Amino acid sequence: MIDKQLNSEVRELVTSMGLSGDPAAGRNLPVVDDPVVQLGMKLFFSKALGGDMDVACVSCHHPVLGGGDNLSLPVGVDAEIEDLLGPGRFHSMAGEHFDGGPTVPRNAPSTFNIGLWDQVLFHDGRVESLGKTPGVNGDDNRGIRTPDVRFGEADPKAGDNLTVAQARFPVTSPEEMKDFGLMAGTTNAEVRAFLAQRIGGYGTPPGGALLPNEWLFEFQTAFNAVGGSAEELITFENITKAIAAYEQSQVFVETPWKAYVQGDSSAISNSAKRGALVFFRSVDEGGADCASCHSGDFFTDEQFHVVAMPQIGRGKGDGVYGDEDFGRFRETGDEQDRYAFRTPTLLNTTATGPWGHAGAYTTLENAVRHHLNPQAALDGYDWTQLDATIQAANMLENTQLAINTLLQNRAEGLPSLQDVDLNNQQFDDLMAFLATLTDPCIADRACIGQWIPDAEDTNPDGLRVEAIDENSNPL
Ligand code: HEC
Ligand code: HEC
Repeated sequence: MIDKQLNSEVRELVTSMGLSGDPAAGRNLPVVDDPVVQLGMKLFFSKALGGDMDVACVSCHHPVLGGGDNLSLPVGVDAEIEDLLGPGRFHSMAGEHFDGGPTVPRNAPSTFNIGLWDQVLFHDGRVESLGKTPGVNGDDNRGIRTPDVRFGEADPKAGDNLTVAQARFPVTSPEEMKDFGLMAGTTNAEVRAFLAQRIGGYGTPPGGALLPNEWLFEFQTAFNAVGGSAEELITFENITKAIAAYEQSQVFVETPWKAYVQGDSSAISNSAKRGALVFFRSVDEGGADCASCHSGDFFTDEQFHVVAMPQIGRGKGDGVYGDEDFGRFRETGDEQDRYAFRTPTLLNTTATGPWGHAGAYTTLENAVRHHLNPQAALDGYDWTQLDATIQAANMLENTQLAINTLLQNRAEGLPSLQDVDLNNQQFDDLMAFLATLTDPCIADRACIGQWIPDAEDTNPDGLRVEAIDENSNPL
């Protein structure tokens, strides 16, 4: 039964916040059956883009795993079993770089709805639109800053939008894709050129020619350029263009919440409606003020805040022991940004765990509870939730430093996360609300399968990831 009083309170709030329910409205994003998207899908799944040909984009961003990898911290190159994704994926112990644990220091965010970001990509925003025009994913001709150039400058090679600019970087990261073998010692520009040559079947890239190599036909078809040469068509720019188009086609916004906002009052439960009030209302009004950061139809302000989620894993080389991660501070050098990370979207968040920039929370409940009182969350943090291979040294101490920064920011009166008291009912309602932010397509194998190559799709280099889980079941 619809509680009319409750329903009208939520509707009033929705109106006052100016929500439309649809963060994709008015955007120009490709559809999955676009030929360039189809090419991008094949590239996204191909290990040819891994320096030593053992890892692909999809190894950490699989559609069945919520567009991520279902791990706290990813395992990229030199996995024990290359095509095993998610829990059970470990580094091989062979070689000087590996001790079995994950070498990538941050949680892999979802590629879902990537085309809806307008300001920054990455946890620290190091790919950044200088124009920040709403609705265009950075495609406003005002420049995109990337890690190849200094903070605040436009990278002349960034490409047209944030998604394509981001796609230039995973292949240059030794731990993620570049590896320590064939491409060792090369610059970012060289890795990209060599990978284009490898895919294109021209030049003399390290590792020699791919066999088979049917990519030229695929590029000619996708870019509608019959007779075009590999040197012209198979450039790193076109590779990233296709990959970005594939990622941008992953628009998953058909949520029960959207249906509700757009008029269907029975689309979400009374509990979820009460949860919406908790989510949107300020602390003074009895809410938890989540929307002060997780704002708008995309549930993020794309800004950076110190919330001090546990710092686990190897870190980014920051701090006394080198196993801290200073987050946004690494880019801006601004003291206020120390330990600040980008506000994640909450669309599909039920499916994109583990949560936090280092994946410290293995349940959504605890990721949410953390916000209510970070110190209590750290004091009660269950370290056994982490896989034993994750480096444990200094985690408690490092996280305490982040919490101290949060407390100091509060004391100085800077806008900061506040402690909030919620009773059990309110907390359960809040969780029920968050569950309405997930698009059912992503849990439906037939629906999500449109973004996964199948037996009917060509496998141009025989290097496609045929993803399996730890029980050897296909994903
Ligand atoms: C070894 C795992 C791994 C591989 C392989 C990998 N990624 Fe990622 N990806 C990550 C991690 C970790 C981050 C976050 C890094 C950070 O914020 O510092 C990330 C971030 C991203 C983002 C930004 C998401 C956001 O919300 O800001 C996109 C898009 C992305 N990757 C796409 C790709 C593409 C395209 C490829 C292949 C060219 C790729 N990834 C390969 C682990 C991986
Ligand atoms: C002060 C800004 C702020 C407020 C208020 C806030 N959050 Fe967050 N939230 C963040 C930031 C920043 C992160 C990322 C932290 C990190 O990566 O370590 C985050 C992470 C999350 C995550 C994990 C998402 C992921 O993909 O890892 C969830 C879930 C979440 N918040 C829900 C909530 C809820 C529910 C509330 C209200 C109780 C709330 N947040 C209030 C800023 C905020």
